[in-house]
Amino acid sequence: MTKKIAVLPGDGIGPEIVAEALKVLDCLKQDFGLEIETEQALIGGAAYDVKGTPLPEETLALAKAADSVLLGAVGGPKWEPLDYSVRPERGLLGIRAELELFANLRPAILYPQLVAASTLKPEVVSGLDIMIIRELTGGIYFGRPRGRRINENGEREGFNTLIYNESEIRRIAHVAFQIAQKRNRKLCSVDKANVLECTELWREIVVEVGCEYPDVELSHMYVDNASMQLVRAPKQFDVMLTDNMFGDILSDCAAMLTGSIGMLPSASLDKNGKGMYEPIHGSAPDIAGRSIANPIATVLSLAMLLRYSFGDAGSADRIEKAVITALDAGYRTADIYSEGMTKVGTAEMGDAIVSALRSSNHLS
Ligand code: NAD
Ligand code: IPM
Ligand code: MN
Repeated sequence: MTKKIAVLPGDGIGPEIVAEALKVLDCLKQDFGLEIETEQALIGGAAYDVKGTPLPEETLALAKAADSVLLGAVGGPKWEPLDYSVRPERGLLGIRAELELFANLRPAILYPQLVAASTLKPEVVSGLDIMIIRELTGGIYFGRPRGRRINENGEREGFNTLIYNESEIRRIAHVAFQIAQKRNRKLCSVDKANVLECTELWREIVVEVGCEYPDVELSHMYVDNASMQLVRAPKQFDVMLTDNMFGDILSDCAAMLTGSIGMLPSASLDKNGKGMYEPIHGSAPDIAGRSIANPIATVLSLAMLLRYSFGDAGSADRIEKAVITALDAGYRTADIYSEGMTKVGTAEMGDAIVSALRSSNHLS
């Protein structure tokens, strides 16, 4: 049966990079017979400009009705003066909450071709393959009370609440242990249990859940140390489990180990495996409209979509191999460029991936 993907390009480089992922999808449909339809909708600033809200009802309805969602990025300086309630980022947070996408998988893999693109020494990063599991619908991003007020001294005050209940921690911990079981059976839970009660509970629950997975080696690390260790010796990690805000920060850090933030895809899953897929980077206003953004994170997000939501590991493998072939051929967008390589723009990188995909069909 034909499956449906809701496509939400968003703002800034969002439409540029999503266009390349759609080229890859078209190739899979034409050359490999995949039966998938797509429908686009507005989100973020683009939606606010037309509809006055960053998450229009029809966008949410489409995302709910579709089998899966592919998103570009949201946000940009144009919308920064707006009230928080209608900022583009609220659209993204809203759709994550509405679809209950609590499990965010952010794999950081360094392709051997990109060792020279990483800012770290080759011996520190070669062979890197980490999976960061970020809790996505709780924590300080959503905790109440939140807001701004004038305090008794007449000063402006801002406040947010870091809060997790047992079941929220338990369900993300199960996801992390199960993923660790399929990898190298090493799970590091990252918290700030020495200071924050909420993450003390986090650690307690992760230990409890860990009893059900005796084959997984569980360790704990404070987030400040973890960020340092990620740069000092990242290969000590296999799966990292952490909360919403720490996961946001640590995954940008891990991205740079792989050469560029333009390389990291992500999957955000609900309890049934339905998901939304997006690069971990933002709308990159500094390079938007110049056709130089790296589309690989988005193309790899499409691969994750096919693997996790449509159970099509074959197509996902094909896409990942095609990315490697394009890199092998020396194609590099500016963010992953190193001497001697061929510098290309967003569309040329997409074309190189599509042509590698096509030739893989002729070979098979
Ligand atoms: P950003 O990730 O957009 O950009 C950070 C830096 O990385 C910039 O120099 C940018 O040019 C570069 N970069 C990002 N993606 C790239 C790509 N594919 N190819 C090459 N270079 C790339 O982060 P920011 O500048 O802090 O945020 C910009 C806007 O994006 C903000 O409005 C923010 O809220 C939003 N944002 C959205 C998402 C999302 O939609 N998931 C994620 C992060 C930030
Ligand atoms: C991300 C982004 C988002 C987040 C923002 C844009 C709401 O930084 O997906 O990493 O903080 O989750
Ligand atoms: Mn982020």
